[in-house]
Amino acid sequence: MHRRHFLGAAATGLSAKPAPTGDVSAARDDFPRARHAVYLDNASCHPLSVHSAAAIHRYVDWETHEVGEPWWPPWARPRHDAKILFAALLNAKPSEIAFARSTIEAESNILNGMNLQGGNVVTTDLHYSAALYHYRMRQRDGLDVRVVKHRKWRIDLNDLDRAIDRNTRLVAVALVSNVNGYFHDIQATSALAHARGAYVYADIIQCAGAVPIDVRAMGIDLAACSTYKWLMGVKGFGFLYVREDLQGAVVKPMQHSGGVRFNYPPWVERPDPAVEEIAYQPVTGPARYEVSYPSYEGVIAALESLSYIQRLGVGNIRAYVRTLTDRLMKELPARGYPSITPPGNDSPIVAFEARDPAKTMERLRAANVHVAMRFGNRMRISPSVYNNQRDLDRLLEALA
Ligand SMILES: Cc1ncc(COP(=O)(O)O)c(C=O)c1O
Repeated sequence: MHRRHFLGAAATGLSAKPAPTGDVSAARDDFPRARHAVYLDNASCHPLSVHSAAAIHRYVDWETHEVGEPWWPPWARPRHDAKILFAALLNAKPSEIAFARSTIEAESNILNGMNLQGGNVVTTDLHYSAALYHYRMRQRDGLDVRVVKHRKWRIDLNDLDRAIDRNTRLVAVALVSNVNGYFHDIQATSALAHARGAYVYADIIQCAGAVPIDVRAMGIDLAACSTYKWLMGVKGFGFLYVREDLQGAVVKPMQHSGGVRFNYPPWVERPDPAVEEIAYQPVTGPARYEVSYPSYEGVIAALESLSYIQRLGVGNIRAYVRTLTDRLMKELPARGYPSITPPGNDSPIVAFEARDPAKTMERLRAANVHVAMRFGNRMRISPSVYNNQRDLDRLLEALA
């Protein structure tokens, strides 16, 4: 099999960013799961497309039967290609992208690698719960942690303004909150943070692939996400973005990021007196934040899905999904489900309060409609590009 087939469509034409086709109308056929159920819980886990699934199958075929084409030596190429595509999605440079295993692990690695001693960190109560735990742990060790609480399910910039000071080292937010889809005013936050010498971390797992992101224009210095949500990939694989000038200087690698060369017998016959006995050779560039191999299944699925998202165009995906979330924001409050998503919020997640969460879930399950019920009675609905108005009809019928 030709390498192009092995790697799928994703392996071609990466250096120039191809214009998106914008045709999202056929997307439903790419996600067969839509045939079996009304799946509106993409903020928990997005289904795989047939394209990513086929690419993973090809990889497994090789690993199992040596059918197809070996992943080595061309393996370095798809790894790099995945970074090129992810960088393009953020308007970052490939040299600013490392692989990560999870969003939460990546944020923890950033915190471990920064000098936070004597400073403070500002975050919000709409950041992910496990991320807040990072800060709780460090608070116990003496770090000054300031958690800005939401007001009416949005973060008030005046509150952030009061919390961020000259001693703030990092402002960490979820760009889109998993709780209610709140899209953080990141540009204004970055302006406040940067004016006081602090860096900005954005958890982008609930928006990368679903909402246009421009780390330069938004003033984001550090970001991370896994691929199993809006990037339509698999669990256990993701990306870390570290602004180039911060690599090694502001964010030090805290896991092994290099190799060694031995300079004594029996490793070498004639040791070089000018060289240390054990010479440590650090990795440079964003790979300094990586440990060992990435998940191959992760790279393969991401390469395929990033290419898919690029072909459709994130702006087009967003425009289409907005028609679905707009309808939910209009119709559900009128049917007795008040929304906790601020009006005019631009993300693929909308959340509503259910009077009787257990009964609501029972009805939805009976109708084979999948949403998330979180934080007691908060019903989170997160449509994607393959959902359609008929899916919403079925949801609304079940809730009637
Ligand atoms: C905002 C947010 N951040 C982080 C995570 C967890 O990400 P990961 O599994 O990649 O650590 C989630 C999962 O739902 C999330 O919604």
